[in-house]
Amino acid sequence: MTFRHRSIVDTIPAYRQGRPAPATPGRRSFQISSNENPFDPLPSVLDAIRSESLGRINRYPDMRGWDVVERVAALEGVAPENVVLGCGSTEVITQLVDLVAGPGDEVVYPWRSFEAYPIIVAGAGAASVQVPNRPDGSHDVDGILAAVNDRTRLVILNNPNNPTSTALSDADARRVVAAVPDDVLVLFDEAYYQFNTAEDTSVAMDLFAEHPNIVVAHTFSKAYGLAGLRIGYGIAAPEVIEGMRKMSLPFGVTDVAQKAALASLDARDELEVRVKSIVAERDRVVAALRSQGWSFPEPYANFLWLPLGDRTDEAAARFTEAGLSTRVFSGEGIRISIGETEANDRVIDVCSRLVAEGLRV
Ligand SMILES: Cc1ncc(COP(=O)(O)O)c(C=O)c1O
Repeated sequence: MTFRHRSIVDTIPAYRQGRPAPATPGRRSFQISSNENPFDPLPSVLDAIRSESLGRINRYPDMRGWDVVERVAALEGVAPENVVLGCGSTEVITQLVDLVAGPGDEVVYPWRSFEAYPIIVAGAGAASVQVPNRPDGSHDVDGILAAVNDRTRLVILNNPNNPTSTALSDADARRVVAAVPDDVLVLFDEAYYQFNTAEDTSVAMDLFAEHPNIVVAHTFSKAYGLAGLRIGYGIAAPEVIEGMRKMSLPFGVTDVAQKAALASLDARDELEVRVKSIVAERDRVVAALRSQGWSFPEPYANFLWLPLGDRTDEAAARFTEAGLSTRVFSGEGIRISIGETEANDRVIDVCSRLVAEGLRV
């Protein structure tokens, strides 16, 4: 059937969700394709949802999520007027792009990076300016700055970058912020910042204190393990937050998500222990792969990137055969999330077999 619609939609690539774990009879399989937190939900979070929220699902949620906004503001050291919630940071980023960019405008960001960026930008009717990463997977800051012009409405930086897991240094971040005009916003997408152990990393909230044109996107999906509930937040100047709120999906953040976020904020110490163990597992996998001779960017998120280039699909098949669903970017590389210990052991095992087959980078 033909129907009248915005032709730009035909140019948007559909978002591809990480594949579920492949069926492997007689053997447990693992989904390590979506950078999820492998730990089960905390009992205290489940209790909060049950006791405070499930009984009122006939009611709309607090549209601004005020309790969460106040808690997040205190945590991040800003005023509540600096905080907006969204259905995951994906919606926060969508609110921002919808606020600042439309037809004729440009949004500059590194590529490859979070695959929602091109979809969100095209959805707003604006143009994406994708700046290829450096060979080591990190942001090409000079390239990003060279791409900024009069049509630029937003620059996005992703630290650590999905899928390459590279960190953005404080010096590089400061170079971008210093060069971008004051009336152009710079988004720091820090979905994975809790896993970032890079010593010289930029910290968006430090920069936010100095530059009012910075927007920070954080999420409860990764370190807090609430990916299924869809809640994240943005931090920006009050005028920007006001505009983002106008662009938000009304009543988008459910009461269940809000109660879970509050309970998770109460349990930050427990969650921190989990984050530390994911980081320790990441470092264990990295050490094992390095000892097998693999060369890939040092990872600073809860995933690693094997830049296998032309041999990506071949190598990806080995992971699937072993009961592991990874995120495959044909012709570029494979992104592997750090998962359960057994899944991580199996990654190490598959990689050693890839080495034996001469399929190593
Ligand atoms: C870089 C990056 N930003 C943002 C998100 C959005 O996560 P969510 O919408 O679950 O908060 C993701 C999710 O994978 C991501 O990788």
